[in-house]
Amino acid sequence: MTNFSKIIATGSYLPEKILSNQDLEKLVDTSDEWIISRSGIKQRHIIGENESPSDMAYNAAIDAITSNNIDKSSIDMIIVATFTSDAVFPSNACLLQQRLGIGSIPAFDLNAVCSGFLYAIATADAYIKTNMAKTILIVGADAVSHYIDYTDRNTCVLFGDGAGAVILQHSNEPGIYGSELHADGNGEEALHVKGQLKQGKIVGHPFVYMDGKPVFKAAVKSLSHIATSILKKTNHTKEQIDWLIPHQANIRIIEATANHLSLPMDKVIVTVDKHGNTAAASVPLALDTAIKSGKIKRGDLLLLEGFGAGFTWGASLIRY
Ligand code: ACO
Repeated sequence: MTNFSKIIATGSYLPEKILSNQDLEKLVDTSDEWIISRSGIKQRHIIGENESPSDMAYNAAIDAITSNNIDKSSIDMIIVATFTSDAVFPSNACLLQQRLGIGSIPAFDLNAVCSGFLYAIATADAYIKTNMAKTILIVGADAVSHYIDYTDRNTCVLFGDGAGAVILQHSNEPGIYGSELHADGNGEEALHVKGQLKQGKIVGHPFVYMDGKPVFKAAVKSLSHIATSILKKTNHTKEQIDWLIPHQANIRIIEATANHLSLPMDKVIVTVDKHGNTAAASVPLALDTAIKSGKIKRGDLLLLEGFGAGFTWGASLIRY
């Protein structure tokens, strides 16, 4: 066993503005009690007027690079997981590469919505294992608020903005033991933003639509199933997991997944209360928060999980 990708750095960024449940009570017919009991969310961060999603991606990347003393010239690929790029094109990965000033290395965006970071981890791992890259910067960054209708109580209470970054590097030691990815396009009707630009006009509804119940059920089923499956594939047991880092959409989905694995909640990283659902940023933000707080330590076994629109879902089992 000598061919692994290892996490050598993490970073994150949250915009300054905080939108609390009390703020939302003034916008729609909701209550702090309803939001907390149904989702576990108390507040979320909202991108600034003069800030762009690529600014958030850049800040998270710089945090990963500087707080871990990474030589940025060693980075030989950039993947940005996002569904909220600054522009139709170029990609935010290209904008990030230009701002970091790191040569002509390949850079691309990847859209698997809330599972984007898991798709990016699996993709980067495959590039590293096949020697096409050695050190890959992955950023999950989304300004979900750009696509939220703040008169729709079904969605506006659930989402927030932010960015998280991870740098993966080739290593002879584990590392990523394995990843698993899935998609089911039948989920389209339950969760989507169908609005698009056509001939200079917005065609279709340009806000997040979500039918919460089927999404909730699909998330619990998929995340529970994939957790068992990735452990089996990589020859690990649930007892070996030090930390579950699940997609931060809803505390009840997180608790159901932990319950399925018989994991006590003190082995589960929870940031949904402070961040809300930040789409592709959710898992790397939770990971970096837990590393910075000292919860996650070198050598710990981590199970990362994501679920999002598509539907898409994915998991990675990682020795940190
Ligand atoms: N405040 C008060 N009432 C509300 C609110 C609100 N903010 N939002 C909805 N309601 C009402 C509805 O109108 C509905 O009322 P009705 O019964 O009179 O029609 C009622 O509350 C629904 O309540 P519950 O059935 O108790 O809601 P539920 O337990 O399903 O929770 C929630 C709703 C939180 C949306 C849940 O279904 C959920 O979390 N779904 C999954 C979200 C998710 O995982 N997303 C991940 C992917 S996101 C991505 O990929 C972009």
